[in-house]
Amino acid sequence: MSVLVTGGAGYIGSHTCVELLEAGYDIIVIDHFQQSNIQSLNHVKQLTNKEFKIYHIDLINKDHLETVFLENSIDAVIHFASLKSVGESVHFPLKYYQNNIVGTLNLIALMQQYHVKKLVFSSSATVYGNTQEVPIKENAVLQTINPYGRTKLIIEEMLRDIYTSDNSWSITILRYFNPIGAHESGLIGEHTDGIPNNLMPYITQVAIGKRKELRIFGSDYPTKDGTGIRDYLHVMDLANGHVKSLNKMKDSKGLFTYNLGTGKGYSVLEIIQVFEKATGVNIPYRIVERRHGDSAVCYADPSKALKDLEWAAKRDIFDMCVDAWRWEKNLNASKV
Ligand SMILES: NC(=O)c1ccc[n+]([C@@H]2O[C@H](COP(=O)([O-])OP(=O)(O)OC[C@H]3O[C@@H](n4cnc5c(N)ncnc54)[C@H](O)[C@@H]3O)[C@@H](O)[C@H]2O)c1
Repeated sequence: MSVLVTGGAGYIGSHTCVELLEAGYDIIVIDHFQQSNIQSLNHVKQLTNKEFKIYHIDLINKDHLETVFLENSIDAVIHFASLKSVGESVHFPLKYYQNNIVGTLNLIALMQQYHVKKLVFSSSATVYGNTQEVPIKENAVLQTINPYGRTKLIIEEMLRDIYTSDNSWSITILRYFNPIGAHESGLIGEHTDGIPNNLMPYITQVAIGKRKELRIFGSDYPTKDGTGIRDYLHVMDLANGHVKSLNKMKDSKGLFTYNLGTGKGYSVLEIIQVFEKATGVNIPYRIVERRHGDSAVCYADPSKALKDLEWAAKRDIFDMCVDAWRWEKNLNASKV
């Protein structure tokens, strides 16, 4: 089976490429490399000892995108390509609507035209907004509070409409919780420009000495230690969720939505403690004001993915810290 992977050079995309190739899928990758570089795909080839085609294309350019459909026989698409910074999306909403929505529209129109009707879409727990009810089930109320989240929700709605109009499609919407960590080789991982938005790259940058201290946004949440609680999952487990989804879609049609998370929540202070234990590196931190829009507690009910896809996260928080740290050290060493 031949799978087109959009955004395959990115953080989750590159790890998923490894899992797909190891599971015996053929892949074709599209990326515009604005948030990633070719090196991650070279490392995917090195890790798997397999070759695949890479297209340096922006999804916004429909003519360029069409060449991929003309030149290849594609059975399914995994669509990662997206801008993903919540903060940036608040300041530049049109950039987000243009890239995420128009890019997806182009992709789906071509899929329809070329009769490629199997799609796995990268959605996010951000579509649940600030829900108070945890663990979060897939049927929770959807209510996003920023432009990035709205692009995810709009695309989800679009996919539901497409399936309603033509039920020969097979669509899987995966709502990721908080992916962290890296491939255990340390060859691929998350690239972060500037001050990281997410906790783990921030911690590893403090650990390596790029930043003086970690800022913790709020210590007065109604949680056991006052800091926010999230559902962190290892990026390789998340990658495996895509393989499990494709396996199921081989012979089934329908539109399915799954939470991919561990079902366990960890506070910021707990993550720091585990990281320090796993790596032996001390993480200085400072408590600052809460960040607007952050909820106190957010973790998944992943039981639907277990039941339907036979998927469950295997790696624990200790593994996630060890692998994230190995990646940061390698990244730093390769820049010297
Ligand atoms: N990382 C997370 O915490 C997280 C959480 C929930 C959902 N997601 C979603 O998962 C997907 C992958 O996230 P990631 O962390 O790997 O992000 P990433 O930025 O590392 O990867 C995205 C890739 O898509 C490419 N891309 C973006 N727009 C493109 C376009 N128009 N044409 C071609 N390529 C384009 C980028 O160059 C990059 O390589 C995204 O859809 C993101 O919204 C991520």
